[in-house]
Amino acid sequence: HAPVPADGEGYDVVVVANRLPVDRDGTGADGSPRWKRSPGGLVTALEPVMQSQEGAWVGWSGAPSSAEDDVTDAFDWGGMHLVPVGLSADEVAGFYEGFSNGTLWPLYHDVIVAPEYHRTWWEHYVAVNERFAAAAAAVASDGAVVWVQDYQLQLVPAMLRAARPDLRIGFFNHIPFPPYEIFAQMPWRRQVLEGLLGADLLGFQRPSDAQNFLRACRRSLGLVPRQQAVEVGGADGTRRRVRAAAFPISIDTAAMDALARTEAVRQRAREIRTDLGDPDTVILGVDRLDYTKGIGHRLKAFAELLDDGLLAADDTVLVQVATPSRERVEQYRLLREDIELQVGRVNGAHGRLGHSVVQYLHHSYGREEMAAMFQAADVMLVTSLRDGMNLVAKEYVASRHDEQGALVLSEFTGAADELGQAVHVNPHDIDGLKAAVVQAVVMSPREQRRRMRSMRRRVGEHDVQRWAHDFLAALRPDLADEVPA
Ligand code: ADP
Ligand code: F6P
Repeated sequence: HAPVPADGEGYDVVVVANRLPVDRDGTGADGSPRWKRSPGGLVTALEPVMQSQEGAWVGWSGAPSSAEDDVTDAFDWGGMHLVPVGLSADEVAGFYEGFSNGTLWPLYHDVIVAPEYHRTWWEHYVAVNERFAAAAAAVASDGAVVWVQDYQLQLVPAMLRAARPDLRIGFFNHIPFPPYEIFAQMPWRRQVLEGLLGADLLGFQRPSDAQNFLRACRRSLGLVPRQQAVEVGGADGTRRRVRAAAFPISIDTAAMDALARTEAVRQRAREIRTDLGDPDTVILGVDRLDYTKGIGHRLKAFAELLDDGLLAADDTVLVQVATPSRERVEQYRLLREDIELQVGRVNGAHGRLGHSVVQYLHHSYGREEMAAMFQAADVMLVTSLRDGMNLVAKEYVASRHDEQGALVLSEFTGAADELGQAVHVNPHDIDGLKAAVVQAVVMSPREQRRRMRSMRRRVGEHDVQRWAHDFLAALRPDLADEVPA
Protein backbone atom coordinates (compact mmCIF):
# COMPACT_ATOMS: atom_id res chain seq x y z
CA HIS A 1 0.00 0.00 0.00
CA ALA A 2 1.15 3.54 -0.65
CA PRO A 3 0.94 5.98 2.29
CA VAL A 4 -1.25 8.39 0.30
CA PRO A 5 -4.48 7.62 -1.53
CA ALA A 6 -4.37 6.46 -5.14
CA ASP A 7 -5.05 9.98 -6.43
CA GLY A 8 -1.68 10.94 -4.90
CA GLU A 9 -3.08 14.05 -3.32
CA GLY A 10 -2.93 13.02 0.32
CA TYR A 11 -5.49 13.07 3.12
CA ASP A 12 -7.56 16.09 4.14
CA VAL A 13 -7.60 15.09 7.82
CA VAL A 14 -4.52 13.56 9.44
CA VAL A 15 -4.26 12.50 13.07
CA VAL A 16 -0.75 12.12 14.45
CA ALA A 17 -0.38 10.21 17.71
CA ASN A 18 2.44 8.36 19.38
CA ARG A 19 0.45 5.17 19.06
CA LEU A 20 -1.55 3.65 16.27
CA PRO A 21 -4.85 2.15 17.47
CA VAL A 22 -3.18 -1.25 17.14
CA ASP A 23 -0.05 -2.80 18.62
CA ARG A 24 2.17 -5.24 16.78
CA ASP A 25 1.43 -8.70 18.16
CA GLY A 26 3.97 -10.90 16.40
CA THR A 27 3.65 -12.50 12.98
CA GLY A 28 0.93 -14.80 11.66
CA ALA A 29 1.55 -18.28 10.20
CA ASP A 30 1.46 -16.78 6.68
CA GLY A 31 4.21 -14.29 7.58
CA SER A 32 1.88 -11.29 7.75
CA PRO A 33 1.93 -8.99 10.82
CA ARG A 34 -0.64 -9.64 13.57
CA TRP A 35 -2.21 -6.73 15.44
CA LYS A 36 -4.07 -6.20 18.70
CA ARG A 37 -5.81 -3.10 20.03
CA SER A 38 -3.51 -0.65 21.89
CA PRO A 39 -4.16 0.29 25.52
CA GLY A 40 -5.22 3.66 26.89
CA GLY A 41 -7.75 6.44 26.66
CA LEU A 42 -6.38 8.13 23.55
CA VAL A 43 -7.18 5.12 21.37
CA THR A 44 -10.60 4.62 23.01
CA ALA A 45 -11.52 8.20 22.14
CA LEU A 46 -10.02 8.60 18.68
CA GLU A 47 -10.95 5.26 17.18
CA PRO A 48 -14.68 5.97 16.67
CA VAL A 49 -13.89 9.46 15.40
CA MET A 50 -11.44 8.19 12.78
CA GLN A 51 -13.68 5.30 11.76
CA SER A 52 -16.25 7.83 10.61
CA GLN A 53 -13.66 9.92 8.73
CA GLU A 54 -11.77 9.52 5.48
CA GLY A 55 -8.58 10.54 7.26
CA ALA A 56 -5.21 8.95 7.98
CA TRP A 57 -3.75 8.05 11.39
CA VAL A 58 0.03 8.40 11.68
CA GLY A 59 1.59 6.59 14.66
CA TRP A 60 4.01 4.05 16.09
CA SER A 61 3.22 0.33 16.10
CA GLY A 62 4.14 -0.13 19.78
CA ALA A 63 7.21 -2.33 19.22
CA PRO A 64 10.81 -1.52 18.28
CA SER A 65 11.51 -1.95 14.58
CA SER A 66 14.02 -4.53 13.56
CA ALA A 67 15.47 -4.70 10.09
CA GLU A 68 13.86 -8.00 9.10
CA ASP A 69 10.47 -7.54 10.71
CA ASP A 70 9.39 -3.96 10.28
CA VAL A 71 6.09 -2.68 8.96
CA THR A 72 6.61 0.55 7.10
CA ASP A 73 3.81 0.52 4.56
CA ALA A 74 0.47 2.11 5.28
CA PHE A 75 -2.37 -0.35 5.80
CA ASP A 76 -6.10 -0.37 6.51
CA TRP A 77 -7.44 -1.71 9.80
CA GLY A 78 -10.86 -1.47 11.39
CA GLY A 79 -12.05 1.01 8.75
CA MET A 80 -9.06 3.35 9.26
CA HIS A 81 -5.99 4.20 7.15
CA LEU A 82 -2.93 3.67 9.31
CA VAL A 83 0.53 5.05 8.56
CA PRO A 84 3.23 3.44 10.75
CA VAL A 85 6.27 5.35 12.04
CA GLY A 86 9.19 3.08 12.97
CA LEU A 87 11.23 3.52 16.16
CA SER A 88 14.52 1.75 16.84
CA ALA A 89 15.13 0.05 20.19
CA ASP A 90 17.31 3.04 21.24
CA GLU A 91 14.55 5.45 20.31
CA VAL A 92 11.95 3.46 22.22
CA ALA A 93 14.22 3.68 25.27
CA GLY A 94 15.11 7.38 24.86
CA PHE A 95 11.96 8.89 23.38
CA TYR A 96 9.11 6.69 24.69
CA GLU A 97 10.29 5.11 27.95
CA GLY A 98 12.71 7.95 28.66
CA PHE A 99 11.62 11.49 27.82
CA SER A 100 7.89 10.78 27.34
CA ASN A 101 7.33 8.50 30.31
CA GLY A 102 10.30 9.16 32.61
CA THR A 103 10.38 12.97 32.22
CA LEU A 104 7.11 14.42 30.89
CA TRP A 105 4.57 11.98 32.35
CA PRO A 106 5.59 12.46 36.01
CA LEU A 107 6.27 16.20 35.49
CA TYR A 108 2.77 16.74 34.06
CA HIS A 109 1.14 14.59 36.79
CA ASP A 110 2.07 16.64 39.84
CA VAL A 111 5.53 15.01 40.19
CA ILE A 112 3.94 11.98 41.93
CA VAL A 113 7.31 10.37 41.24
CA ALA A 114 10.46 12.36 40.47
CA PRO A 115 10.91 13.25 36.77
CA GLU A 116 14.36 12.51 35.37
CA TYR A 117 16.14 14.93 33.05
CA HIS A 118 18.64 13.39 30.66
CA ARG A 119 20.07 15.21 27.67
CA THR A 120 20.26 12.04 25.59
CA TRP A 121 16.52 11.44 26.14
CA TRP A 122 15.81 14.97 24.96
CA GLU A 123 17.87 14.38 21.80
CA HIS A 124 15.79 11.29 21.04
CA TYR A 125 12.61 13.26 21.71
CA VAL A 126 13.60 15.92 19.16
CA ALA A 127 14.68 13.35 16.56
CA VAL A 128 11.53 11.25 16.90
CA ASN A 129 9.25 14.31 16.83
CA GLU A 130 10.99 15.24 13.54
CA ARG A 131 10.16 11.80 12.17
CA PHE A 132 6.46 12.08 13.09
CA ALA A 133 6.31 15.59 11.59
CA ALA A 134 7.89 14.36 8.35
CA ALA A 135 5.49 11.38 8.17
CA ALA A 136 2.47 13.65 8.66
CA ALA A 137 3.77 16.18 6.12
CA ALA A 138 4.14 13.37 3.57
CA VAL A 139 0.50 12.23 3.76
CA ALA A 140 -1.37 15.53 4.28
CA SER A 141 -3.10 17.06 1.26
CA ASP A 142 -2.68 20.72 0.36
CA GLY A 143 -4.31 22.82 3.10
CA ALA A 144 -5.21 19.71 5.16
CA VAL A 145 -6.05 19.68 8.83
CA VAL A 146 -3.43 17.90 10.92
CA TRP A 147 -4.41 17.06 14.47
CA VAL A 148 -1.44 16.24 16.68
CA GLN A 149 -2.10 14.29 19.90
CA ASP A 150 -0.59 14.33 23.35
CA TYR A 151 2.59 15.02 25.30
CA GLN A 152 4.83 12.67 23.33
CA LEU A 153 4.59 14.97 20.27
CA GLN A 154 4.75 18.53 21.58
CA LEU A 155 7.42 19.63 19.09
CA VAL A 156 5.52 18.36 16.06
CA PRO A 157 3.26 21.43 15.55
CA ALA A 158 6.20 23.84 14.96
CA MET A 159 8.14 21.29 12.90
CA LEU A 160 5.11 20.70 10.70
CA ARG A 161 4.44 24.38 10.25
CA ALA A 162 8.03 24.93 9.11
CA ALA A 163 7.72 22.13 6.54
CA ARG A 164 4.12 22.78 5.48
CA PRO A 165 2.89 26.33 6.13
CA ASP A 166 -0.28 25.53 4.14
CA LEU A 167 -1.61 23.19 6.86
CA ARG A 168 -4.14 23.98 9.56
CA ILE A 169 -2.60 22.49 12.72
CA GLY A 170 -4.36 21.47 15.94
CA PHE A 171 -2.92 19.90 19.07
CA PHE A 172 -4.74 18.15 21.89
CA ASN A 173 -3.11 17.31 25.22
CA HIS A 174 -4.76 14.24 26.76
CA ILE A 175 -2.98 14.67 30.08
CA PRO A 176 -2.88 17.65 32.47
CA PHE A 177 -0.70 20.68 31.76
CA PRO A 178 1.09 21.49 35.03
CA PRO A 179 1.25 24.77 36.91
CA TYR A 180 4.26 26.88 35.92
CA GLU A 181 5.98 26.30 39.27
CA ILE A 182 6.28 22.63 38.30
CA PHE A 183 6.67 23.04 34.52
CA ALA A 184 9.59 25.42 35.13
CA GLN A 185 11.77 22.50 36.28
CA MET A 186 12.15 21.32 32.73
CA PRO A 187 15.48 22.31 31.17
CA TRP A 188 13.82 22.46 27.69
CA ARG A 189 10.71 24.36 28.71
CA ARG A 190 11.12 27.09 26.07
CA GLN A 191 11.58 24.60 23.25
CA VAL A 192 8.48 22.69 24.34
CA LEU A 193 6.34 25.84 24.43
CA GLU A 194 7.68 26.98 21.07
CA GLY A 195 6.93 23.54 19.64
CA LEU A 196 3.31 23.70 20.79
CA LEU A 197 2.90 27.26 19.53
CA GLY A 198 3.34 25.96 15.99
CA ALA A 199 -0.34 24.97 16.22
CA ASP A 200 -3.31 27.21 15.41
CA LEU A 201 -5.39 25.75 18.24
CA LEU A 202 -4.31 23.97 21.43
CA GLY A 203 -6.89 21.86 23.23
CA PHE A 204 -6.68 20.81 26.87
CA GLN A 205 -8.90 18.71 29.14
CA ARG A 206 -9.74 21.36 31.74
CA PRO A 207 -9.80 25.18 31.68
CA SER A 208 -7.07 25.14 34.34
CA ASP A 209 -4.75 23.22 31.97
CA ALA A 210 -5.24 25.86 29.26
CA GLN A 211 -4.60 28.61 31.81
CA ASN A 212 -1.44 26.85 33.03
CA PHE A 213 -0.19 26.72 29.45
CA LEU A 214 -0.91 30.40 28.79
CA ARG A 215 0.76 31.34 32.06
CA ALA A 216 3.85 29.34 31.07
CA CYS A 217 3.95 31.29 27.78
CA ARG A 218 3.89 34.53 29.73
CA ARG A 219 6.50 33.50 32.30
CA SER A 220 8.87 31.68 29.98
CA LEU A 221 8.47 33.48 26.65
CA GLY A 222 7.17 36.89 27.75
CA LEU A 223 4.00 36.52 25.64
CA VAL A 224 0.92 38.30 26.91
CA PRO A 225 -2.23 36.14 26.81
CA ARG A 226 -5.43 37.91 25.68
CA GLN A 227 -8.81 36.23 25.42
CA GLN A 228 -7.40 32.72 25.76
CA ALA A 229 -4.78 33.32 23.07
CA VAL A 230 -1.26 34.53 22.48
CA GLU A 231 0.20 36.20 19.39
CA VAL A 232 3.38 34.85 17.86
CA GLY A 233 5.49 36.03 14.93
CA GLY A 234 5.09 34.10 11.67
CA ALA A 235 8.02 33.22 9.37
CA ASP A 236 6.98 35.95 6.91
CA GLY A 237 6.93 38.68 9.57
CA THR A 238 3.16 38.52 10.06
CA ARG A 239 1.54 37.86 13.45
CA ARG A 240 -0.38 34.69 14.18
CA ARG A 241 -2.90 34.03 16.96
CA VAL A 242 -2.67 30.75 18.86
CA ARG A 243 -5.73 29.84 20.92
CA ALA A 244 -5.64 27.60 24.00
CA ALA A 245 -8.92 26.32 25.40
CA ALA A 246 -10.58 23.38 27.15
CA PHE A 247 -12.21 20.60 25.11
CA PRO A 248 -12.98 17.81 27.60
CA ILE A 249 -12.64 14.46 25.86
CA SER A 250 -15.24 11.70 26.08
CA ILE A 251 -16.26 8.24 24.87
CA ASP A 252 -18.50 6.79 22.18
CA THR A 253 -21.41 6.79 24.60
CA ALA A 254 -24.06 5.37 22.25
CA ALA A 255 -21.81 2.45 21.28
CA MET A 256 -21.00 1.65 24.91
CA ASP A 257 -24.66 1.89 25.87
CA ALA A 258 -25.72 -0.36 22.99
CA LEU A 259 -23.04 -2.93 23.82
CA ALA A 260 -24.04 -2.97 27.48
CA ARG A 261 -27.68 -3.64 26.53
CA THR A 262 -26.93 -6.78 24.50
CA GLU A 263 -28.14 -10.04 25.98
CA ALA A 264 -24.62 -11.51 25.79
CA VAL A 265 -23.19 -8.76 27.99
CA ARG A 266 -26.06 -8.90 30.50
CA GLN A 267 -25.68 -12.67 30.72
CA ARG A 268 -21.93 -12.33 31.20
CA ALA A 269 -22.46 -9.76 33.97
CA ARG A 270 -24.62 -12.28 35.84
CA GLU A 271 -21.99 -14.98 35.31
CA ILE A 272 -19.27 -12.74 36.69
CA ARG A 273 -21.20 -12.27 39.92
CA THR A 274 -21.77 -16.01 40.16
CA ASP A 275 -18.08 -16.72 39.50
CA LEU A 276 -17.20 -14.32 42.31
CA GLY A 277 -19.35 -16.40 44.70
CA ASP A 278 -22.45 -14.17 44.62
CA PRO A 279 -21.19 -11.64 47.13
CA ASP A 280 -23.48 -8.84 48.36
CA THR A 281 -21.11 -6.20 47.10
CA VAL A 282 -18.82 -6.15 44.07
CA ILE A 283 -16.40 -3.22 43.95
CA LEU A 284 -14.42 -2.61 40.75
CA GLY A 285 -11.24 -0.80 39.73
CA VAL A 286 -10.07 -0.69 36.07
CA ASP A 287 -6.83 1.09 35.26
CA ARG A 288 -3.57 0.87 33.39
CA LEU A 289 -1.10 -0.16 36.07
CA ASP A 290 0.14 3.41 36.56
CA TYR A 291 1.21 5.31 39.69
CA THR A 292 -1.11 8.18 38.76
CA LYS A 293 -4.19 5.98 39.32
CA GLY A 294 -3.99 5.76 43.12
CA ILE A 295 -4.40 1.96 43.16
CA GLY A 296 -2.34 1.67 46.34
CA HIS A 297 -4.49 4.27 48.13
CA ARG A 298 -7.60 2.36 47.10
CA LEU A 299 -6.24 -0.97 48.39
CA LYS A 300 -5.21 0.65 51.66
CA ALA A 301 -8.69 2.07 52.22
CA PHE A 302 -10.30 -1.27 51.31
CA ALA A 303 -8.00 -3.22 53.65
CA GLU A 304 -8.74 -0.86 56.54
CA LEU A 305 -12.50 -1.15 55.95
CA LEU A 306 -12.17 -4.93 56.27
CA ASP A 307 -9.95 -4.56 59.36
CA ASP A 308 -12.50 -2.21 60.92
CA GLY A 309 -15.37 -4.58 60.14
CA LEU A 310 -17.12 -1.88 58.08
CA LEU A 311 -17.02 -4.17 55.07
CA ALA A 312 -17.64 -7.91 55.49
CA ALA A 313 -14.86 -10.03 53.99
CA ASP A 314 -17.33 -12.85 53.30
CA ASP A 315 -19.72 -10.69 51.33
CA THR A 316 -17.46 -8.26 49.50
CA VAL A 317 -15.11 -8.62 46.56
CA LEU A 318 -12.85 -5.97 45.08
CA VAL A 319 -12.04 -6.76 41.45
CA GLN A 320 -8.96 -4.83 40.38
CA VAL A 321 -8.17 -4.99 36.68
CA ALA A 322 -4.72 -3.55 36.08
CA THR A 323 -3.67 -3.44 32.44
CA PRO A 324 0.08 -3.98 31.96
CA SER A 325 1.67 -0.66 31.02
CA ARG A 326 5.17 0.71 30.28
CA GLU A 327 6.70 -2.34 31.87
CA ARG A 328 10.31 -1.45 31.09
CA VAL A 329 10.14 1.87 32.96
CA GLU A 330 11.63 1.47 36.44
CA GLN A 331 8.85 3.29 38.32
CA TYR A 332 6.24 1.03 36.72
CA ARG A 333 8.15 -2.09 37.79
CA LEU A 334 8.36 -0.81 41.35
CA LEU A 335 4.66 0.04 41.33
CA ARG A 336 3.74 -3.45 40.16
CA GLU A 337 5.76 -5.01 42.98
CA ASP A 338 4.11 -2.72 45.55
CA ILE A 339 0.59 -3.38 44.33
CA GLU A 340 1.04 -7.13 44.08
CA LEU A 341 2.51 -7.18 47.59
CA GLN A 342 -0.44 -5.19 48.90
CA VAL A 343 -2.95 -7.49 47.18
CA GLY A 344 -1.20 -10.52 48.67
CA ARG A 345 -1.34 -9.01 52.15
CA VAL A 346 -5.07 -8.20 52.02
CA ASN A 347 -5.91 -11.64 50.68
CA GLY A 348 -3.64 -13.27 53.27
CA ALA A 349 -5.37 -11.41 56.09
CA HIS A 350 -9.00 -11.61 54.91
CA GLY A 351 -9.33 -14.41 52.34
CA ARG A 352 -10.46 -17.94 53.07
CA LEU A 353 -10.24 -21.20 51.15
CA GLY A 354 -11.86 -20.69 47.79
CA HIS A 355 -12.50 -16.96 48.31
CA SER A 356 -10.13 -14.03 47.73
CA VAL A 357 -11.37 -10.61 48.80
CA VAL A 358 -9.28 -8.94 46.10
CA GLN A 359 -9.40 -10.43 42.61
CA TYR A 360 -6.38 -8.92 40.91
CA LEU A 361 -6.19 -9.32 37.13
CA HIS A 362 -3.08 -8.14 35.30
CA HIS A 363 -4.53 -8.45 31.80
CA SER A 364 -6.29 -6.61 29.04
CA TYR A 365 -9.86 -7.52 28.16
CA GLY A 366 -12.13 -7.02 25.19
CA ARG A 367 -14.85 -4.41 25.20
CA GLU A 368 -17.68 -6.89 25.88
CA GLU A 369 -15.96 -8.21 28.97
CA MET A 370 -15.30 -4.65 30.22
CA ALA A 371 -18.97 -3.75 29.70
CA ALA A 372 -20.01 -6.88 31.62
CA MET A 373 -17.65 -6.06 34.48
CA PHE A 374 -19.03 -2.52 34.70
CA GLN A 375 -22.55 -3.96 34.90
CA ALA A 376 -21.58 -6.51 37.51
CA ALA A 377 -20.08 -3.86 39.81
CA ASP A 378 -22.13 -2.19 42.55
CA VAL A 379 -19.39 0.34 43.16
CA MET A 380 -16.78 1.69 40.75
CA LEU A 381 -13.61 3.15 42.27
CA VAL A 382 -11.66 5.82 40.36
CA THR A 383 -9.06 7.18 42.77
CA SER A 384 -6.46 8.85 40.51
CA LEU A 385 -3.97 11.16 42.18
CA ARG A 386 -3.98 13.11 38.91
CA ASP A 387 -5.68 12.22 35.63
CA GLY A 388 -6.30 14.32 32.52
CA MET A 389 -9.85 12.99 32.11
CA ASN A 390 -10.33 9.30 33.10
CA LEU A 391 -12.54 7.63 30.53
CA VAL A 392 -13.17 4.58 32.71
CA ALA A 393 -15.48 6.73 34.88
CA LYS A 394 -17.49 7.69 31.79
CA GLU A 395 -17.57 4.10 30.51
CA TYR A 396 -19.02 2.91 33.81
CA VAL A 397 -21.79 5.49 33.58
CA ALA A 398 -22.50 4.68 29.92
CA SER A 399 -22.77 0.95 30.73
CA ARG A 400 -25.39 1.44 33.45
CA HIS A 401 -28.63 1.59 31.45
CA ASP A 402 -30.22 0.07 34.56
CA GLU A 403 -29.41 3.38 36.32
CA GLN A 404 -27.87 1.44 39.17
CA GLY A 405 -24.35 1.45 40.61
CA ALA A 406 -22.37 4.11 42.45
CA LEU A 407 -19.25 5.88 41.20
CA VAL A 408 -16.55 6.99 43.64
CA LEU A 409 -14.51 9.56 41.72
CA SER A 410 -11.31 11.40 42.56
CA GLU A 411 -11.57 15.16 42.43
CA PHE A 412 -8.18 15.16 40.67
CA THR A 413 -9.63 13.80 37.42
CA GLY A 414 -10.96 15.87 34.54
CA ALA A 415 -14.11 13.72 34.75
CA ALA A 416 -14.90 15.16 38.21
CA ASP A 417 -15.67 18.54 36.58
CA GLU A 418 -18.45 16.88 34.58
CA LEU A 419 -19.75 14.14 36.87
CA GLY A 420 -20.95 16.19 39.81
CA GLN A 421 -23.26 13.38 40.98
CA ALA A 422 -20.43 10.94 41.63
CA VAL A 423 -19.21 10.55 45.22
CA HIS A 424 -16.17 12.82 45.05
CA VAL A 425 -13.03 11.99 47.02
CA ASN A 426 -9.56 13.23 47.77
CA PRO A 427 -7.68 9.91 47.50
CA HIS A 428 -4.86 11.18 49.73
CA ASP A 429 -7.36 11.40 52.58
CA ILE A 430 -7.66 7.72 53.47
CA ASP A 431 -10.40 8.30 56.07
CA GLY A 432 -12.34 10.36 53.52
CA LEU A 433 -11.85 7.64 50.92
CA LYS A 434 -13.09 4.97 53.36
CA ALA A 435 -16.17 7.07 54.14
CA ALA A 436 -16.85 7.52 50.41
CA VAL A 437 -16.61 3.77 49.78
CA VAL A 438 -19.05 3.06 52.62
CA GLN A 439 -21.40 5.77 51.35
CA ALA A 440 -21.35 4.15 47.91
CA VAL A 441 -21.82 0.60 49.28
CA VAL A 442 -24.88 1.50 51.36
CA MET A 443 -26.42 3.93 48.83
CA SER A 444 -30.11 3.18 48.27
CA PRO A 445 -31.24 2.08 44.80
CA ARG A 446 -33.28 5.25 44.58
CA GLU A 447 -30.32 7.49 45.31
CA GLN A 448 -28.19 5.50 42.84
CA ARG A 449 -30.85 6.06 40.19
CA ARG A 450 -31.06 9.79 40.85
CA ARG A 451 -27.30 10.24 40.56
CA MET A 452 -26.79 7.83 37.66
CA ARG A 453 -29.54 9.49 35.61
CA SER A 454 -27.89 12.86 35.90
CA MET A 455 -24.44 11.48 35.03
CA ARG A 456 -25.86 9.52 32.08
CA ARG A 457 -27.45 12.67 30.74
CA ARG A 458 -24.08 14.43 30.82
CA VAL A 459 -22.12 11.59 29.17
CA GLY A 460 -24.93 11.10 26.65
CA GLU A 461 -24.86 14.73 25.56
CA HIS A 462 -21.09 15.19 25.71
CA ASP A 463 -19.73 12.22 23.78
CA VAL A 464 -16.50 11.86 21.82
CA GLN A 465 -18.19 12.75 18.53
CA ARG A 466 -19.15 16.09 20.03
CA TRP A 467 -15.61 16.58 21.38
CA ALA A 468 -14.09 16.02 17.93
CA HIS A 469 -16.72 18.19 16.29
CA ASP A 470 -16.17 21.06 18.72
CA PHE A 471 -12.39 20.92 18.37
CA LEU A 472 -12.32 20.62 14.59
CA ALA A 473 -14.99 23.28 14.16
CA ALA A 474 -12.92 25.66 16.31
CA LEU A 475 -9.82 24.78 14.30
CA ARG A 476 -11.45 25.12 10.90
CA PRO A 477 -15.08 26.24 10.90
CA ASP A 478 -15.73 24.91 7.40
CA LEU A 479 -15.15 21.36 8.73
CA ALA A 480 -18.04 21.68 11.16
CA ASP A 481 -20.50 20.23 8.65
CA GLU A 482 -18.28 17.29 7.76
CA VAL A 483 -17.78 15.99 11.31
CA PRO A 484 -21.14 15.08 12.83
CA ALA A 485 -21.63 16.23 16.44
P1 ADP B 1 -5.48 6.22 30.44
O1 ADP B 1 -5.64 6.94 29.14
O2 ADP B 1 -4.58 6.90 31.39
O3 ADP B 1 -5.12 4.78 30.28
P2 ADP B 1 -8.44 6.30 30.74
O4 ADP B 1 -9.29 5.89 31.89
O5 ADP B 1 -8.76 7.64 30.18
O6 ADP B 1 -6.92 6.20 31.20
O7 ADP B 1 -8.60 5.26 29.56
C1 ADP B 1 -8.31 3.90 29.72
C2 ADP B 1 -8.96 3.11 28.59
O8 ADP B 1 -8.39 1.80 28.56
C3 ADP B 1 -10.45 2.91 28.81
O9 ADP B 1 -11.11 2.91 27.56
C4 ADP B 1 -10.53 1.53 29.46
O10 ADP B 1 -11.75 0.83 29.24
C5 ADP B 1 -9.40 0.81 28.79
N1 ADP B 1 -8.87 -0.22 29.68
C6 ADP B 1 -8.31 -0.04 30.89
N2 ADP B 1 -7.95 -1.22 31.43
C7 ADP B 1 -8.30 -2.17 30.53
C8 ADP B 1 -8.20 -3.61 30.49
N3 ADP B 1 -7.64 -4.31 31.49
N4 ADP B 1 -8.65 -4.23 29.40
C9 ADP B 1 -9.20 -3.54 28.39
N5 ADP B 1 -9.33 -2.21 28.38
C10 ADP B 1 -8.88 -1.52 29.42
O1 F6P C 1 -3.64 9.87 27.28
C1 F6P C 1 -2.74 9.19 28.00
C2 F6P C 1 -1.89 8.18 27.28
O2 F6P C 1 -0.60 8.37 27.61
C3 F6P C 1 -1.93 8.15 25.76
O3 F6P C 1 -1.16 9.10 25.10
C4 F6P C 1 -1.43 6.78 25.57
O4 F6P C 1 -1.65 6.26 24.30
C5 F6P C 1 -2.17 6.00 26.66
O5 F6P C 1 -2.24 6.89 27.71
C6 F6P C 1 -1.53 4.68 27.05
O6 F6P C 1 -0.17 4.80 27.31
P1 F6P C 1 0.93 4.14 26.39
O7 F6P C 1 0.68 4.56 24.99
O8 F6P C 1 2.23 4.62 26.93
O9 F6P C 1 0.75 2.65 26.57
